[in-house]
Amino acid sequence: MLEVKIRRALPEDVEKIFELYNSLSEDDLYLRYFHYYKPTLDEMKTLVKQSDHITLVAESDGKIIGEGTLYNDGEFSLVVAQEFRKQGVGTEIVKALIEEAKNKKLKNVRFYTLPENEPMIRIGKKLNFKLSIDEDEVYGELKLS
Ligand SMILES: CC(C)(COP(=O)(O)OP(=O)(O)OC[C@H]1O[C@@H](n2cnc3c(N)ncnc32)[C@H](O)[C@@H]1OP(=O)(O)O)[C@@H](O)C(=O)NCCC(=O)NCCS
Repeated sequence: MLEVKIRRALPEDVEKIFELYNSLSEDDLYLRYFHYYKPTLDEMKTLVKQSDHITLVAESDGKIIGEGTLYNDGEFSLVVAQEFRKQGVGTEIVKALIEEAKNKKLKNVRFYTLPENEPMIRIGKKLNFKLSIDEDEVYGELKLS
């Protein structure tokens, strides 16, 4: 079984997170940011600074295989490297983001995605998010208090 550790991103992870992003398809980047966007190395440095957000990484065998970011308003997004999908990593990242949100005493967490994003919809259902699914957008919300 895949051994994965979910933890806060650190400044020394920048290069490895950048590698993860470079391995992603345009579709993945679109789903992660909800528009096409390829972050630069400098933007990665902002990501790990954890200023208006909390960024977690999934690490396996010294490699960063996933990343999830929770913003102060409760919105979050995540990505898992393609070759490590369907093994529960995405679910574990979302669970860890929910814990971070609870610790920050946020009232809810939420995500937006596309109706064809079956894995994200499954994660939402499994973790009891209230889902609003329409033709071109899925909105998931979980109340925490
Ligand atoms: C969404 C994403 C993070 C899920 O990561 P993952 O590690 O594959 O997630 P999990 O392994 O926890 O799978 C979650 C569920 O989806 C299912 N699943 C995974 N990939 C699937 C696929 N391609 N088609 C159908 N179901 C799929 C899993 O079997 C699992 O179902 P279960 O909980 O009923 O067993 C990953 O697909 C990804 O990075 N996508 C691109 C970016 C993205 O969409 N981000 C979300 C923005 S909000």
